[in-house]
Amino acid sequence: MMEISLKQGSVRSLKTACIAVAVFAGKRLSPSAQALDKTSHGALSRIIKRGDINGTVGEVLMLPDVAGIEAERVLLVGAGKVEGITGTEYSSMLGKVAKAITDAGLKNAISALGEIEVKEHDLKWKARQLSVAFRSAAYRFDRLKSKPSRKPLLSRLWLHGDDETGAGTMAGIQLGKAIALGLDLTKNLANLPGNYCTPTHLAETAEELAKTYPSLKCTVLNEADMQKLGMGSLLSVARGSRQPPKLITLEYRGAGPTAKPIVLVGKGVTFDSGGISIKPAAAMDEMKFDMTGAACVLGIMKSVAELELPINVVGVAPATENLPDGAASKPGDVVTSMSGQTIEILNTDAEGRLILCDALTYSARFEPDVVIDIATLTGACIVALGSHASGLLSNHDPLAEELLAAGQRIGDRAWRLPLWDEYQKQIESPFADMANVGGREAGTITAACFLARFAKDYRWAHLDIAGTAWTGGKAKGSTGRPVPLLMEFILNRCG
Ligand code: BES
Ligand code: MN
Ligand code: ZN
Repeated sequence: MMEISLKQGSVRSLKTACIAVAVFAGKRLSPSAQALDKTSHGALSRIIKRGDINGTVGEVLMLPDVAGIEAERVLLVGAGKVEGITGTEYSSMLGKVAKAITDAGLKNAISALGEIEVKEHDLKWKARQLSVAFRSAAYRFDRLKSKPSRKPLLSRLWLHGDDETGAGTMAGIQLGKAIALGLDLTKNLANLPGNYCTPTHLAETAEELAKTYPSLKCTVLNEADMQKLGMGSLLSVARGSRQPPKLITLEYRGAGPTAKPIVLVGKGVTFDSGGISIKPAAAMDEMKFDMTGAACVLGIMKSVAELELPINVVGVAPATENLPDGAASKPGDVVTSMSGQTIEILNTDAEGRLILCDALTYSARFEPDVVIDIATLTGACIVALGSHASGLLSNHDPLAEELLAAGQRIGDRAWRLPLWDEYQKQIESPFADMANVGGREAGTITAACFLARFAKDYRWAHLDIAGTAWTGGKAKGSTGRPVPLLMEFILNRCG
């Protein structure tokens, strides 16, 4: 595990494999860059003058062996306007810095990037983002390779800065570390393929968490328990699979037994083949990521417990596979949900809402302050928003605003779509109280309209993370989103 700590003293004499310093737009040097420039008799300003780096946010230029200074390398980092950049710009810049330093295989490094002015953010926030960025860059998923990579990873990072007491920076580092721990768990679970990451594996992981953190209480419901509760909708999805479904709950009560909790509900489809309405073969492997909502819930509960936050949070994760067995649901089947409402299953590939609806009904027992569900729910959301924003739909405007603001602040944005009554018509059914699909138009909204029918008794928001949960292509893998957004939301509520 990477160690991150504070370092004081003059940048010129710091011994390290690499020191990262900022260059502002208009080729202006930051104070640390100026100090290095002076000791190196103008080496940095000569390079900058030649135009190898301009100071645009996110540019990076690695300089080996700069004469006259102790550091073995200098990483020049474009940092935009001297007056300040946005939090989003700063975070994306840190991602590039962390990647450059990590990919170079260096053992240690110093960041002097706390000097960059970031609008509306302090040193603590900057240290937190830096800590998350470097730990994320160090993330590897090679446990299923017979010979894991031996490439050395950055083991030590120092933050250099003008934080006099170091208190803000240290607090930010600790916060970032706890968030990164949760993020790593989320990514590990999401990247783990369906033959390893079964509903049972998710349940065992939650139980282990509760063993590690006594502040977490874990409950796992099995098929028989769900039957007793009347979760006919969730069970109808599970019938198509040989893996037994699980309904996982993790409770954390850091604010005493009476404060109403935030309830997080995460879709845990450990593989989504589409069921009888089977999906096309292309990229079907990516449907192992269809449990990312559940993975986010587990990761967040870990971070919350690690930080011992003064707040109540309950995580709920319905987990199942969606496969086309002989016992699987067929198009046209009608099932009865825990709420008593009946559902005509027109498409077995719209399974996420079928498991979430019962989990939403179940969540009412925690007398929630708010319920937020997280789900890789609709391909339509990718069409609407691409991979930059998660879709957000809610029955409570202040909650929606709060989530949007949290995402904006931390660079893990969501974008709200309407939940108007007019859309409800699309999921009317001649045979049941509702259908599980609403046609081609506004697919993300009609999916949320379906869920809204089960979330009438509390303030509720839904995050559709189909476009943000993972990246495809060569760098295929879980992004851990929207863990940062939700951690920011929770931390803000802690005051
Ligand atoms: N898990 C998928 C949604 C999905 C698809 C996420 C692609 C990320 C990438 C979900 O269960 C699903 O299959 N949704 C259907 C709904 C449709 C049948 C109304 C979809 O989006 O095609
Ligand atoms: Mn599906
Ligand atoms: Zn799905």
